Amino acid sequence: MVDSFEGKVALVTGAAGGIGLATARAFGVAGASLVVADSNIALLEIAAAELRSAGHEVLAIGCDVTDRSQVNAMIEQAIETYGKLDAAFNNAGINCDGAPLVETEDTEFDNIIDVNLRGTWNCMKAELRHMNARRSGTIVNCSSIGGMRGSKGRAAYSASKFGVIGLTRASALDYAEKGIRINAVCPGIIGNTPMAKRVTKNNNPEIVKAFVAAEPIGRLGEPSEIAAAVLWLCGSAASFVVGHALTVDGGILA
Ligand SMILES: NC(=O)c1ccc[n+]([C@@H]2O[C@H](COP(=O)([O-])OP(=O)(O)OC[C@H]3O[C@@H](n4cnc5c(N)ncnc54)[C@H](O)[C@@H]3O)[C@@H](O)[C@H]2O)c1
Repeated sequence: MVDSFEGKVALVTGAAGGIGLATARAFGVAGASLVVADSNIALLEIAAAELRSAGHEVLAIGCDVTDRSQVNAMIEQAIETYGKLDAAFNNAGINCDGAPLVETEDTEFDNIIDVNLRGTWNCMKAELRHMNARRSGTIVNCSSIGGMRGSKGRAAYSASKFGVIGLTRASALDYAEKGIRINAVCPGIIGNTPMAKRVTKNNNPEIVKAFVAAEPIGRLGEPSEIAAAVLWLCGSAASFVVGHALTVDGGILA
């Protein structure tokens, strides 16, 4: 059973589509007031309109998580609008094309680290400043099974997602006593997201088949299944869960 988030304020970054939008929907259905942020402002507006038409209270903010000043402004706007922030899902992320390390351009490595790792760092810093003052809040960072094991051609992505787990675990220790719980979610292969569409070259049947074959459960995950895990981690049922990296992966890491 999902906790009620009635009276709570939840932020989701990378909320214009995929896992982020599914999580914003789930927070909205659970009663939260929403802050949805993304660097793709056109898609974010479409997502925000969908969430509003479902009856949710929505503040949509264009924000590039790699830019510290935009991130600080996003959190300030959220606090100005709602007065507080209870839960944050730092989900904005990018992946790489898939090539061995030597063939991966330095610029691609920089870009992935900047969005996935520094972006998470920037968001946590701004969120924690506020949560620390209130001595309350929950943060979930989006890692990946690629943050728990290597996979061929994904050294830069893996480095960024291992880093997200490091940030999560160490900062969870800093803030556990202060009433703030910080955890991570590690999705397996999730279909039905714009990222999945890019990786499968627009749902190419051969590529999709290979991904399904890699999933012990025999299918790809749904964005809503990651959303359910994020809401659980942010809710009172997970009140003793601190610094955990939760795999939601159909059994791949088993
Ligand atoms: N889809 C999967 O199979 C899978 C598996 C493991 C982990 N993940 C992780 O889940 C998260 C979401 O993945 P998804 O499949 O929904 O991807 P997606 O591409 O569908 O969504 C990611 C969102 O992040 C936004 N974004 C990218 N760079 C940004 C930036 N600098 N600032 C703000 N927003 C930015 C994009 O515009 C997009 O809306 C990512 O962190 C990804 O690494 C996905």
